[in-house]
Amino acid sequence: MNLRVQPCESLHGSVTTPGDKSISHRALLLGAIAEGVSVVRGWLPAADCQATLDAVRALGMTIDQPLSTELVIYGRGLYGLRSPGSDAAIDCQGSGTTMRLLAGVLAGQTFTATLDGHAGLRHRPMERVASPLRQMGATVETHDGCPPLTISGGDLQGIDYAMPVASAQVKSAVLLAGLYAQGETVVRQPGPTRDHTERMLKAQGVRLRERDNIITLTPPPQPLAPNSLTVPADFSSAAFPLVAALLAPDSDLTLEGIGINPTRTGLLDVLQRMGAQVALGNEREQGGEPVADLAIRPSQIHGIVVCGDTVVRMIDEFPILAVAASQAQGETIVRDASELRLKESDRIATIAAELRKMGADIEEQDDGFAIQGPVRLRGARVQCHGDHRLAMALVVAGLVADGETIVEGSQAIADSFPGFVNLMRGLGAAIDGT
Ligand code: S3P
Repeated sequence: MNLRVQPCESLHGSVTTPGDKSISHRALLLGAIAEGVSVVRGWLPAADCQATLDAVRALGMTIDQPLSTELVIYGRGLYGLRSPGSDAAIDCQGSGTTMRLLAGVLAGQTFTATLDGHAGLRHRPMERVASPLRQMGATVETHDGCPPLTISGGDLQGIDYAMPVASAQVKSAVLLAGLYAQGETVVRQPGPTRDHTERMLKAQGVRLRERDNIITLTPPPQPLAPNSLTVPADFSSAAFPLVAALLAPDSDLTLEGIGINPTRTGLLDVLQRMGAQVALGNEREQGGEPVADLAIRPSQIHGIVVCGDTVVRMIDEFPILAVAASQAQGETIVRDASELRLKESDRIATIAAELRKMGADIEEQDDGFAIQGPVRLRGARVQCHGDHRLAMALVVAGLVADGETIVEGSQAIADSFPGFVNLMRGLGAAIDGT
């Protein structure tokens, strides 16, 4: 599917974005291994989370869905999952989070299961979860380090694991396996990755200590308590209308109830350092997470250097940062971000290639990129490379460009934000399907 995007002078309104994708995956998985009924409201009904829902059902769990955004999960405890049968692989579709988190849970089971996915997922690195899970005692086979993954679990030992890359998915897989292990599991992370798993496990009664990026989990002597919650709106989805409103000169936008967990809001800090006017109001807590309303005013922004821990705290926001940087005065440099090459697309290569088609001055580097701004973007025909966040960033680029932009392959947006186009239209953007 293609989208046709026209230039846009203003985005007006007060809206919220759908439920957080990372929290939606976790609420479902952790509800499934709890004992008792968990009700999850504000769940994200997007393709990636649907992959987790289908996978958990394939493992024999009963989950009702009275609304597209509401799940009732009938948890049967840590060992309540059932073998999916030997011939059928569990289809994680395009979702890396589904595969890596589920690998941690499967490592603790007494049956064998295979996890597979779409062509895009089959290229993504899985040795990073396979290796610590093997150290804990599971048997994990990969296909040259990539999916499919075949996991035979049981009899795990806690480990002290220093993660070579800062990855919340790897950390979560090891902590989930740690629930099933003998002795404590320690994960040492090189930077502050998103901590939704830790927050949820604590809410479910698990003893977990965190200090200086070291997390220590004690296997629970009792079953996990059910965890009913309302999922906060996804900051990573909010990032697209947020940047669009900063750049469209007559905008006035409020994004309501957005998750502002500090392990996720690196982009907010970066944009504010660039001079963006984004005010936080009505700060409160929802589903064990901090949330706030974000009021955005059009702003003159300038280039900066983004590196180190900030990169981890905004790991999904680089496509949209690149669009903002193309409109900023001076140079924006991104370093320490080679992980971007291993996402839904090689995001360093794809964002550089596609924004260049629109006239951006962007230079690809091994571990990031450098952008000179501001440049008047011009409408062009651009490609999404199967990457939902690249697709939405290119739509925003189209809104600030002169002339018409055609975004090809925009169906990828449904992986995380199926209502994106309608939300943007409601704010005043002229976007239609071709
Ligand atoms: C996620 C962690 C991040 C992020 C992904 C979701 C999660 O991946 O890019 O979109 O829910 O844990 P890594 O753990 O590979 O950095």
